[in-house]
Amino acid sequence: MRILHTIAEVRDFRRSQGQATLGLVPTMGFLHEGHLALVRQARAENESVAVSIYVNPKQFGPTEDLSRYPRDLARDLALLGEEGVDCVFIPDNEEMYPTDFQSGVVVKEITQPLEGARRPTHFEGVTTVVAKLFNIFQPTRAYFGQKDAQQVAVVRQMVRDLNFGLGIVVGPTVREADGLALSSRNKYLTVEQRATATVLHRALRSAEAHWQSGERDSDALRSTMRQLLEAEPLARVDYVSAADPATLGEYAGLIPPGAGALLSMAVFFDRTRLIDNVLLSGDATT
Ligand code: PAF
Repeated sequence: MRILHTIAEVRDFRRSQGQATLGLVPTMGFLHEGHLALVRQARAENESVAVSIYVNPKQFGPTEDLSRYPRDLARDLALLGEEGVDCVFIPDNEEMYPTDFQSGVVVKEITQPLEGARRPTHFEGVTTVVAKLFNIFQPTRAYFGQKDAQQVAVVRQMVRDLNFGLGIVVGPTVREADGLALSSRNKYLTVEQRATATVLHRALRSAEAHWQSGERDSDALRSTMRQLLEAEPLARVDYVSAADPATLGEYAGLIPPGAGALLSMAVFFDRTRLIDNVLLSGDATT
């Protein structure tokens, strides 16, 4: 497994691969089974696999957790070695954003609701670094997790709008046995918070059960989720949403016949903010 720190090294690596298909898994490190599932999928679908590990400062707001974001590079590299990854790119900030760096990639409407409304600079940071990684690696496919549903929608929009010539592959959310979605931020939870944090999954499953019984009132779906979340004293709801999966626009009242819905939420446990979602298919209409 090649460990590369500079863009020039990545370009040499890519050239040395000739016409081989390349799967890229962009990460911020502190890898968990969710990342490794994406790596395995990339391994199965491409001749060559690259992983980037870079805690991108541009996607953190001034009051967010950049400085305390968990890191364990030695463990990450050991895990990636076991998965047969060909190359790991670990740039520093100067390599990604030299002092005269001036550009940013902005995706407009779809970045405005949900995460974008609470984290106004977040998605520009994500699209800028992801666009750079796509240009640096020229991958055949790039792999993202459905847990960051809005990130997936934003990256897809960027790829369409700016004609990046690659496929975006989305892996399902990987969960603990009790339903908590895997996230590097779970590490911040106290024992009590960790036990309570299953409420995100419980709230989503409950609303999903209502959907499967034919509930199409978006207010009722949001209220089902909110009631369960608010019953947990350690949880503080940031938002709950029932949105159009294509535009991420919030539904008001009845969801149109045949349409699907993205149910999503962000919940604080003290300073730790967790997100989760479930995508409901319109085809399941009863
Ligand atoms: O999902 C993440 O870990 C990050 O947002 C990403 C895609 C690696 C960009 O920094």
